[in-house]
Amino acid sequence: MAFGSLSLFRALLFLSLTASALSTRPYKKGLSPHFYDLVCPQALPTIKRVVEAAVQQERRMGASLLRLHFHDCFVNGCDGSILLDPTPTVDSEKLAFPNNNSARGFEVIDQIKAEVDRVCGRPVVSCADILAITARDSVVALGGPSWKVRLGRRDSTTASRTTANSDIPAPNMDLPALINNFKRQGLKVKDLVALSGAHTIGFAQCRIFRDRIYNDSNINHAFAKNLQSSCPRMGSDGNLASLDPTPAHFDTRYYNNLLSQKGLLHSDQALSTDESTLKLAKSYSYDYDAFWKDFAKSMVRMGNIKPLIGNQGQIRLNCRRVN
Ligand code: HEM
Repeated sequence: MAFGSLSLFRALLFLSLTASALSTRPYKKGLSPHFYDLVCPQALPTIKRVVEAAVQQERRMGASLLRLHFHDCFVNGCDGSILLDPTPTVDSEKLAFPNNNSARGFEVIDQIKAEVDRVCGRPVVSCADILAITARDSVVALGGPSWKVRLGRRDSTTASRTTANSDIPAPNMDLPALINNFKRQGLKVKDLVALSGAHTIGFAQCRIFRDRIYNDSNINHAFAKNLQSSCPRMGSDGNLASLDPTPAHFDTRYYNNLLSQKGLLHSDQALSTDESTLKLAKSYSYDYDAFWKDFAKSMVRMGNIKPLIGNQGQIRLNCRRVN
């Protein structure tokens, strides 16, 4: 009897999993964390392994990979468009101001795509999904929170440098501009404050924060002076400074810094210019749990921006090129 009901349970489980697998090819309803469970169960562990190795080799790579997903999603949705190289017909986003000489990690994505296609036996995992999973695994590799990544995005056949220039937020934005920028993506003020916490990892270049350290008034004097020594008024454009004091650890130091006017970017410090955003930043500064929970939630929300699903787009064979 016990055996009978167990077999029945297994049969039902098999049927329901098969049904969900069939409905995920193509998955019409939207994204699902289980999208690759049956078509390629090795996909996610493979991605995690390559990300861990890349981060172990260079801690900054985790930050760079997280940023790629953000810059993908904010330009016509999370569709892998940022990965397309320039051609006469592809207006590559890699050449847009926020990405040119700044976005990095493309070789790691190439490596992941090659390994995933090899273990899956065929190209079933989209480049857009690879970016989403890689972002999560990077955060985890640097000690941050984990979350279930919803999957089933397909890849674009186009890119838009113009949209990348207009829709990726700029470091000189003030708070109303940032709020409006996120709002146009369907994201709320809370998402802005939580996702800006991504700047707990990684670096920025002198040319990006120069204006802030010489011209802003809401900056800690000693902090600005110290940065000026490695970022002169002219030259040394590519010199790096960390976005918070612990750039290889996903922690709450970013928010602590904002409270002492040590945000590296004008857009970071902008979060302290209004009571509502300052209140959130304050609570994240001492409450890991709240930051981690909200960051994970907001990453899922960002990952849901306008995905291509069902028969839309394609699964690229090479993330850099349209099939
Ligand atoms: C709120 C508006 C945002 C602005 C204006 C902004 C701007 C920037 C800029 C200018 C840099 C430095 C680029 C360079 O110097 O080459 C940077 C770095 C970075 N950004 Fe943002 N960002 C924003 C939000 C986000 C979000 C939402 C994420 C991810 C969820 C993110 C993740 C990162 C990471 C991880 C780095 C370091 C990358 C590295 O070291 O390679 N940023 N950001």
